[in-house]
Amino acid sequence: MWTREALHELVVEKLRDYLFVVVSNREPYVHSYVSGAIHCDMPPSGLTTALDPIMRACGGTWVAHGGGNADRDTVDENDRIRVPPGDPRYTLRRVWLSKEEEDAYYYGFSNDALWPLCHIAYTRPTFNEAEWNVYRTVNERFANAVLEEVGTGKAFVFVQDYHLTLLPRLLREANPELIIAQFWHIPWPNPEAFRVCPWQAEILTGLLGNHLLGFHLRYHCNNFLDTVDRALEARVDRDRYEAIHGGEKTAIRPFPISIDFEDVARRAQDEAVQAEMERLKLSLEIKGMLVGMGLDRIDYTKGIPDRLRAFDRFLERYPHYRNKVVFIQTGVPSRVHVPAYRRINDEIDSLIEEVNWKYETEHWRPIIDLRGPLPPLTVMALRRLADFAIVSSLHDGMNLVAKEYVASSVDERGVLILSLFTGAARELTDAILVNPYATDYFAEAIRAALEMPLEEKQRRMRRMRAIVQENNIYKWAADIVTEMAKVEFGA
Ligand code: F6P
Repeated sequence: MWTREALHELVVEKLRDYLFVVVSNREPYVHSYVSGAIHCDMPPSGLTTALDPIMRACGGTWVAHGGGNADRDTVDENDRIRVPPGDPRYTLRRVWLSKEEEDAYYYGFSNDALWPLCHIAYTRPTFNEAEWNVYRTVNERFANAVLEEVGTGKAFVFVQDYHLTLLPRLLREANPELIIAQFWHIPWPNPEAFRVCPWQAEILTGLLGNHLLGFHLRYHCNNFLDTVDRALEARVDRDRYEAIHGGEKTAIRPFPISIDFEDVARRAQDEAVQAEMERLKLSLEIKGMLVGMGLDRIDYTKGIPDRLRAFDRFLERYPHYRNKVVFIQTGVPSRVHVPAYRRINDEIDSLIEEVNWKYETEHWRPIIDLRGPLPPLTVMALRRLADFAIVSSLHDGMNLVAKEYVASSVDERGVLILSLFTGAARELTDAILVNPYATDYFAEAIRAALEMPLEEKQRRMRRMRAIVQENNIYKWAADIVTEMAKVEFGA
């Protein structure tokens, strides 16, 4: 079983005198002013949740955009701060962006072009040349920050996600001694979908600056190789899973990301969680009710309206469940300056309103809307309370919410309803797997979750817990570090 300590030993052995540098758009710790005082929070992001324990284990430097309104007031003269606060284990180097840059690079090209391009959720990408130009400039800014952090030393640079597709090539050209890897946290679509991007060749060339490029699934690796094959003058070796471009080789590998299982399971058993569960039962008036839960970043890829429609269909078909079951929808707003995200929020508002209006009685509202930031203790208590959780993404690279629910189900009585179109569905085959587009079948899945005998629930949850426990975040990192070391040492 991979642990934080075992990963640390592996890093010491494999990375030797190399600095470990992680680069991402989103920072792991955000400082902001709340009523005049500085607060430090972790953002609601699967990426930072997954990488923070790794950085705690490995040490090194994390380069990321400083987006909090107190971020500039908390760094030193080199824009660095040691984190986590109170138990510093690694350095966070912040990169600054103007509001206009953030608008064009993050909300624009990253999240209004690349995000819908890579997720098959029937939301059209918007390509805008001015935004693309800013995206390029921002990638250069990140490259300069990484090069400054590395100086003349040796480094393994581990780049994250679709915000930084041009960075690997920029780094490789500036310093050929660097070992560079990137992990793509979202799906990679097929070449027909990707080819509508007017800058596909530049993006692919940027990504092929990596020595190693990781995706969650082999399916995404295949899609990426197919895209390279169609779009570039490159050689694609399908037996070795490599792309050779301009004489340089990039290894393409699947690494399904995960969570710190032990940490989540331990936190789920805190005494404070039990007390919070009791408080929630009273304040939400759900004592004795069957409880379903959805916990998402509010995003049109997550299939939230689809699950609300399925819940509606379930109540319509099985009226004897009315007054007995509630569905709690939680979630944090995200990327609200992108029009499609504003639309999805409005759609969720009106669906919740509509379903509640249709069925509510004097003492019962079928959907409880808890959208907005919640304290981690409350989120954990909700996971423990939920008789079933729904993850209904229309398309999702992995989905760590599903794995967190499994890790939190310490009494093994929760049921996970999981979209077939998540990466997690490949591992969590004991979930009730659903196609979120098929509302009638989805409604039946809710019924099946509620009527599943306890023994079967436990059998399924036990198996899923064993899978997540074994394939934890430390294993994910260890597999990547081992592959990165092969680049340098040919191990
Ligand atoms: O799921 C893809 C992803 O980019 C994750 O890597 C990240 O945790 C999440 O979306 C949140 O994104 P953002 O940083 O835009 O809030």
